[in-house]
Amino acid sequence: MNSTKLPKSLWRFYFAYGARGHWGTLAIWFIAFLGVAADGVLFPMIERWFIALFEQTPPAGISFIEFAMPTIILCVSLFILIDLMNILRGVMHGRWNPKISNQISDILTDYVHHQSMSFWTGRMPGKINSQINYVATGFRTIEKFINMFMSMMIIIVNVGIVLNINKYVAFIFAAVFVFRMIYGLALLRPMNRSSANASDSSSTLSGKIVDSISNYSVVKLFAAATSERKYMAPHRIANIKNKITAQFFQRLFWAVPNIVWNFAFGGVMLCCVILYSRGEILVSEIVFTISVFFNVMFRISHIIGEIPDIVDNISSAHKSYTELVQPIDVMDADNAKILNVKHGEIEFRNVSFKYKNKYILRNLSLKIAPGTRIGLVGASGAGKTTLVNLLMRLYDTTSGDILVDGQNIRDVTQDSLRQNISFIPQEPTMFNRTLRENIAYGNPNATNAQIRHAARQAAADKFITATEQKYNSMVGDRGIKLSGGQRQRVAIARAFLKNAPILILDEATSALDSQTEVEIQKSFEKLARGRTTIAIAHRLSTLRNMDVIVVIERGRILEMGTHTQLIRRGGEYARLWKMQSGGFLQTNDRK
Ligand SMILES: Nc1ncnc2c1ncn2[C@@H]1O[C@H](COP(=O)(O)OP(=O)(O)OP(=O)(O)O)[C@@H](O)[C@H]1O
Ligand SMILES: [Mg+2]
Repeated sequence: MNSTKLPKSLWRFYFAYGARGHWGTLAIWFIAFLGVAADGVLFPMIERWFIALFEQTPPAGISFIEFAMPTIILCVSLFILIDLMNILRGVMHGRWNPKISNQISDILTDYVHHQSMSFWTGRMPGKINSQINYVATGFRTIEKFINMFMSMMIIIVNVGIVLNINKYVAFIFAAVFVFRMIYGLALLRPMNRSSANASDSSSTLSGKIVDSISNYSVVKLFAAATSERKYMAPHRIANIKNKITAQFFQRLFWAVPNIVWNFAFGGVMLCCVILYSRGEILVSEIVFTISVFFNVMFRISHIIGEIPDIVDNISSAHKSYTELVQPIDVMDADNAKILNVKHGEIEFRNVSFKYKNKYILRNLSLKIAPGTRIGLVGASGAGKTTLVNLLMRLYDTTSGDILVDGQNIRDVTQDSLRQNISFIPQEPTMFNRTLRENIAYGNPNATNAQIRHAARQAAADKFITATEQKYNSMVGDRGIKLSGGQRQRVAIARAFLKNAPILILDEATSALDSQTEVEIQKSFEKLARGRTTIAIAHRLSTLRNMDVIVVIERGRILEMGTHTQLIRRGGEYARLWKMQSGGFLQTNDRK
């Protein structure tokens, strides 16, 4: 399955992916469904047959009980058959419903995981989660659709039978049905709009709440609970307003037709009385007519009652699906090859990059020889992280190319590119899983010995073994239970374990104390051996031994050379170096 290419239309998605692998279960469920639906026609008929028994005289020599027996047996058998169908329908529904919901959620979660960075930067994870759930719920609506269709059939058959008994009664049925449909359809559009607004404001609110709750530590530190409530208030008010409007339309949908039905029932009773007084209708036919009246009214309510839900579910599913299945900016080329890294040469060729209209990198060219360690230096916001993001193809360049061992990264699969890069980010985040799982992330088959070895190299083993559960300790939400330095060391251990030929360190040692930094620096040197390494640092002392140091200013390379060459040159690097005391930059360049 290719989750990076999903149909544009929700219906095609449901058809192609929703039921895949479950058509058999759905087919059995549908047949059982038909059987149960027959109940709608059979029930009034059975009542009619039964009452009709009392209007007949049994043939000579047969007692009334014997005469009635076949009808009783037939009726009971039919009821049992329908009940069995009902059980089968329930069992099948119980099977397909969770499977299909999870299948849809699985495919969409996978799709959004393939989304490019620009998709994520503009969205709230909480909202994405509820949108995925809306699409899954939308599929379950097909059951309601089929139900509606069945009810429609049952109404038509029943009205047809009543037409045989009396055309006036049939006319009342048909009139109520037509009125209800027209009334319902007229309200459909405003109802549709109001429920889409209600669900949209619900997901926005839920996204904001998740965002607020997940930043609980910031809220606490800024004593901002009250201002968070204030911030949330307009969204809550909008949500309440939209929900009340949606509810209003729902009420309106029901109230008027209910009153109309009371009059219609009066009309049916009057017709029966008139026909009986003229001797034109049998009691069994009256019973049948009344039974059909309630049955038809029940079905109409059912159909109409389902419409708001169906509209609600489908419009929410539709809106959510369209937002989720936005085209992916960064895609593998159709004939993308697997990146083959033999040496680890990296080349940036005239690379420019902009976010919206703001250029971050301009015409930058840089060739990094295999196995070289280069240091990137520059003021905050200069574009260092952006440069390595482009190398990992988290974004595509606006112009220019990036090559790894002569292969353009646009021509290889993103997975193979990233498998060849170990990246330790500026602010490593963790899954709320165990330390072991976090270290082995991306390498789930690693043995315990390998995990420990990696942790030792990253100077993380000591603090891990000091925790109560050791490698089985949970790290908390996004790693909250770890200190900044510990989180970095877990990220470093992860990179050691990944063992990729290209290594990128973005301020990887910024949160470490000097003692640990010295330990890790040694490990880095070991790790960097034979690998092409790009290290970004504000603390220039960490880059001193790099083969080449590149100074970036406003998206351009200002100067490059070894530490000694750059100091001798007396340019920006030399200026920065002078400003540092004990290896720290003392300007407000640091964040
Ligand atoms: N997703 C984004 N959308 C828009 N602009 C962005 C985005 N990410 C970064 N930028 C902008 O791009 C510029 C370069 O950012 P970048 O993260 O590359 O800087 P940096 O050199 O790594 O800085 P630092 O040393 O602070 O980490 C900044 O001005 C930043 O505001
Ligand atoms: Mg950065």
